[in-house]
Amino acid sequence: MYCVRKVTEDLYWVGANDHRLHLFENIHPIPQGVSYNAYLLLDKETVLFDTVDWSAYRQLVENLDYLLGDRPLDWLVINHMEPDHAASVEQILLRYPDVKVISSEKAFMLMRQFGFHPDLHECITVAEGDTHCFGEHTVTFVAAPMVHWPEAMVTFDTTNGVLFAADAFGSFIALDGKLFADEVDFDRDWIDEARRYLTNIVGKYGPHIQLLLKKASGILDQIKFICPLHGPVWRENLGYFVDKYDKWSRYEPEETGVLIAYASMYGNTESAAQALAARLCEKGCTNVAVYDVSNTHVSYLISEAFKYSHIVLASVTYNLGIYPVMHNFLMDMKALNMQNRTFALIENGSWACKSGDLMQKFIDEEMKNMTVLNDRLSIASSMGADKNLELDALADAIIDSMKED
Ligand code: FEO
Repeated sequence: MYCVRKVTEDLYWVGANDHRLHLFENIHPIPQGVSYNAYLLLDKETVLFDTVDWSAYRQLVENLDYLLGDRPLDWLVINHMEPDHAASVEQILLRYPDVKVISSEKAFMLMRQFGFHPDLHECITVAEGDTHCFGEHTVTFVAAPMVHWPEAMVTFDTTNGVLFAADAFGSFIALDGKLFADEVDFDRDWIDEARRYLTNIVGKYGPHIQLLLKKASGILDQIKFICPLHGPVWRENLGYFVDKYDKWSRYEPEETGVLIAYASMYGNTESAAQALAARLCEKGCTNVAVYDVSNTHVSYLISEAFKYSHIVLASVTYNLGIYPVMHNFLMDMKALNMQNRTFALIENGSWACKSGDLMQKFIDEEMKNMTVLNDRLSIASSMGADKNLELDALADAIIDSMKED
């Protein structure tokens, strides 16, 4: 059965939802699913903007058959070649032998690498600022390198103000009937998954997102719809989401608050982390989120690290090093270019406490623009009441540093 939604008078969402995939990119859990968005423009000529994951190909075809009827598919515009969107390109080319393809030079190279045989079709290579008219609609192509692969571009329809934004402005969570961001309570139900998507998938490339935002800022008043490749379409309150993207890609925290991530083997480091959370709240700093790194997928920790201004790492010493799962969190923050946060440390060790020094060294030497507070809570095996003053000092140091922000 076809499943389409109208975006504008002659533009349709023809994508699909996926609740079967457990791990996006085979690494990030997506318990609420994801959508693969493709769009069909029915102008004088017909245009498909991007395709879908291979698993959703049948749905795409049913949607196209329904909307095209007897009309041919004239054009395929590929903004991004990652297989969650482009895996169906070859099948679309085979199904529509006369379709012509528009994409960037690097995207055509990737099509050949993936074995999609674009050269059996008329291929038009476009670059920054090139335009194409499909009848009533004229589009401009804008390079968006590293948002999220080097070949990526976005396409702006200057006739109706639709921005086909590729991976930019996307989100995890399947659409399940809703199409527009104003059809859901985005700030309540979607923002955490939108942040988790952006920070984990494209977080490393903040400067490239900034470059794209800079290009978009010149035409912001002309953008009426943002059509991403995942998640809802934006037609209202665009500034809200643009502002979030601006913050995330500048590595600026969204909120003044504290992420406490603890690595605990037998509950004693956990106990210290909980004691700190309670002490912070007692002192009036209630925007505190506590996670056990051992049972929280690192993609959630990354998202929370992008959200909060302060990060407390509490780690037991393991094999004279940082607990492996905590080390993985640190490595992931580094890989995603995380910056501009204030850290506080809690360390634990029963006979050779090393984790604090090692976490400090990692943050100082491997990460950019980070501050580590001097106050450190150091515990031997378990935390007793004798650590009360140190706990108090650490909570005070965190709260005082917030005043400096
Ligand atoms: Fe959703 Fe980079 O692909």
